[in-house]
Amino acid sequence: MSETGGFEARAGETRGQALSRLARFLEASGVEAAREDARLLLFDACGLTHAEFVLSPETPLGKAEAGLLAEHAARRAAREPVSRILATRGFWTLDLAVFPDVLDPRPDTESVAALALSLVSARRDEALRLLDLGSGSGALLCALLAELPQAFGVAVDLSPQALLATRTNLTRCGFSARAALLRGCWGGALSGAFDLIVGNPPYVRSGDIDELSPEVRLHDPRLALDGGVDGLSCIREIAADLPRLLAPGGVAVLEVGCGQAHETAALLAAAGLDDAGTRRDAGGRERAVAARRRL
Ligand SMILES: C[S@@+](CC[C@H](N)C(=O)[O-])C[C@H]1O[C@@H](n2cnc3c(N)ncnc32)[C@H](O)[C@@H]1O
Repeated sequence: MSETGGFEARAGETRGQALSRLARFLEASGVEAAREDARLLLFDACGLTHAEFVLSPETPLGKAEAGLLAEHAARRAAREPVSRILATRGFWTLDLAVFPDVLDPRPDTESVAALALSLVSARRDEALRLLDLGSGSGALLCALLAELPQAFGVAVDLSPQALLATRTNLTRCGFSARAALLRGCWGGALSGAFDLIVGNPPYVRSGDIDELSPEVRLHDPRLALDGGVDGLSCIREIAADLPRLLAPGGVAVLEVGCGQAHETAALLAAAGLDDAGTRRDAGGRERAVAARRRL
């Protein structure tokens, strides 16, 4: 076994050969989409676009490229996600930075942005007041600010690393003048009148965390995952506080885990909010639940 976990850099090897060898190495390390991941890591190590690779698979890897590819290979074999190795992730229409100790934003969460935007579409050009509870990387708030040009948003997170990530991504997307950040426990330090509240709270049952894939269990922070014994403890806390935080007619949209939509809708109704619908993820599962405060 080498220092880089078994994938030796070979200067002079062609890009195409390195790709095949890396895909086999990652597959043997238990990585699911080994070939796709190998391509992304190779493109990054060589500074290539897909088209450049297709046109020149016979080009030999330079020494520095081979060295970086070996480092990438060792990290991926240790089950670090590609988005963390490359420190970037496409979310909605944006290219976000990904940080250690902060949840790597997922495509599933785009369901929350889509449902939220559909519910305020008639108010797109108003100066809406947005709140992102548990902002993490800032993915949701950045997506909403991108689509609601007059809106102003508040991001709240308990984690200082998450707030730094939110701030960096707001700046990266050009939205820092339209947002404020607050370290705190959900909306506890805020007083109301938000038109749109979004959140992707931790919702994994504490007892299930050890069963998650290594990519999640070893690399996403527990604070971003752990939803208590039944997975619903954060959703319960947030739901109870939403009527106080929402403006009359305002809507809240929460991401939930698979199988939690029904119970979440019941918690929102018990808090006195009206049902405003759900949205399914790409796999057809209800993953975003919305509620509205009556006018
Ligand atoms: C599942 S992550 C979501 C991050 C981001 N919104 C996204 O969708 O990618 C949950 C976030 O909630 C934050 N969090 C956990 N407990 C919290 C609390 N009591 N108050 C505020 N934020 C909290 C975590 O630090 C984490 O950033």
